[in-house]
Amino acid sequence: MSERWTPSSWRDKPIQQVPAYPNMDELKAVEAQLAGFPPLVFAGEARKLKRALGKVAAGEAFLLQGGDCAESFGEHSADNIRDFFRLFLQMAVVLTFAGSSPVVKVGRIAGQFAKPRSAPNETVGGVELPSYRGDIVNGIEFTPEARVPDPRRQMEAYRQSAATLNLLRAFATGGYANLENAHRWMLGFVKDSPQSGRYEELSGRITETIDFMRAIGLDPEAHPEMRTTDFYTSHEALLLGFEQAMTRVDSTTGDWYATSGHMIWIGDRTRQPDHAHVEYCRGVRNPIGLKCGPSLKPDELIKLIDLLNPQDEAGRLTLICRFGAEKAAEHLPALVRAVKREGRTVVWSCDPMHGNTVKAATGYKTRPFDLILAEVRDFFAVHQAEGTHAGGIHLEMTGKNVTECTGGARAISDTDLHDRYHTYCDPRLNAEQALELAFLVAEQLKRERIARGRPMVEAAE
Ligand code: PEP
Ligand code: CO
Repeated sequence: MSERWTPSSWRDKPIQQVPAYPNMDELKAVEAQLAGFPPLVFAGEARKLKRALGKVAAGEAFLLQGGDCAESFGEHSADNIRDFFRLFLQMAVVLTFAGSSPVVKVGRIAGQFAKPRSAPNETVGGVELPSYRGDIVNGIEFTPEARVPDPRRQMEAYRQSAATLNLLRAFATGGYANLENAHRWMLGFVKDSPQSGRYEELSGRITETIDFMRAIGLDPEAHPEMRTTDFYTSHEALLLGFEQAMTRVDSTTGDWYATSGHMIWIGDRTRQPDHAHVEYCRGVRNPIGLKCGPSLKPDELIKLIDLLNPQDEAGRLTLICRFGAEKAAEHLPALVRAVKREGRTVVWSCDPMHGNTVKAATGYKTRPFDLILAEVRDFFAVHQAEGTHAGGIHLEMTGKNVTECTGGARAISDTDLHDRYHTYCDPRLNAEQALELAFLVAEQLKRERIARGRPMVEAAE
C-alpha cells in the first residue's frame, strides 16, 4: 500500500530543478491566489482524453502531440495560435487520411512555460547568471534582473494559458476545424512548399468524399465530427507549486485532477521514482506522460508504471521515448518487452527531437531532419518487430517559418539557421518540415496497419 497522497505531499520528497525564489512569502501569496482562480480545464475533458488515449493503447488510434519547446510571453498572439492550430489540423488530416488512423490531438500549448535545465547557472563572456527556466519563472534576457525568479510571472502564465485555451476552443468547435475547410488550412509560406502539391491532392480527395456523402443523401452538417474537433492541451508538470495551486477535486467523482492542462508529463530529468515530480503526478487522475531517455532501465520503468498506473488503466500512461537516432533500436526493445512481460497497458509515443540535438558549426543548437526521421523509423520498426503499436509522435514544432532545424525538403543548412532562429529553448520544426514529417509518419502508419491486417480506419472517438 502506498503512502497517502495529497496535492502537497510532493513537498516532503527530494526535488530537482527548483528555481531559487528570493522571496518565499511572495511566492506563497501568488500560489494562494492561483489556488482560488478558476480551473483551466475540466476533469470531464481529461477523462475524455484518457478514453481516447485508451484507444491508442489498444492500437486503434494514433497520438499527435506537439508545440513549442517553451511558450513565451513575447510571442503570445492570435496569429501564432492560429498558425499553430492550422498546422496541427493539417498534420492530423494527413495522418487520418493518408495513414488511415483516427488521430488524438494534444498540443504542447496553453501552459508549456517551465523548462528543466542541464545546469543551474549559465556563463557568457565570463559573467555567470542563473539559467533561464522558462517565462513562468524568469526572463530570457541575459541580465541579472531578468534572471531572478519572479513569482508574479505565474499569474501571467495563467492569464496567457486561459487566453490561448479560449481561442483554441473557439477554433476547435466554432467552424474553423470543419473538414470542409481542409483545403483552406494551407499556410501562406507552405503554399509554395514542396509539400503543397501533396497536401492539395489530399484535401481535394476529402472534398470529393464529402461531396459524395452529400450526393448519396448523407448530410455532413448533421455530423459534429465533421465540423468540430477534440483538441487537448499538455505541458511538462515541472513547477510543482503552480501545479499544486491548480489541483482541484472533481465534484462528480471526488477525485483530484490537475486543471492546468488536460495531460501533463514528467521530464526525463525529474522521473526519479521517490522524488517530488513522480509523487505529484501519481495522485492526479489526468492522462500522464513519462519521458523515457537512454538512462531508463526496464526494471525502473516497471517501478514507475506501478507508481503512476497501479490500476493499469488504459490511456492513463503515455511513455514518450526520446533516445536519439540509432539509440532507439538499442534501448527501446528491452523496455517494450518488459512492459509486455508485465502485461501493462501503455501508449508508446516517439519524441524524436530531444535525443537528436546537435551543435551546428555556426554555434546554433539544431536538429537535423534526417536524424529526426531516422528515430521515427526505428521506433516504428521496433514496434513492428515486437508486435506492439507505435502509438504516437511528440514533436517540437511551430506554425511559423523559422529556421531552427536543418534539412527537410527545402534543405535548410547550418548557415541558414541565423536567418529566423526564434526559439526560447530547443529548435522546432517549422510548418513545412512538420507537414513533411506528418506525410512520412503517415506512410509508416499505413505500413503498420497493413502488416497487422487492419488497413482501414475505425470509428473515431
Ligand atoms: C522537453 O520536452 O522540452 C524536454 C525538456 O524533454 P526531456 O524531458 O525529454 O528532456
Ligand atoms: Co524541448
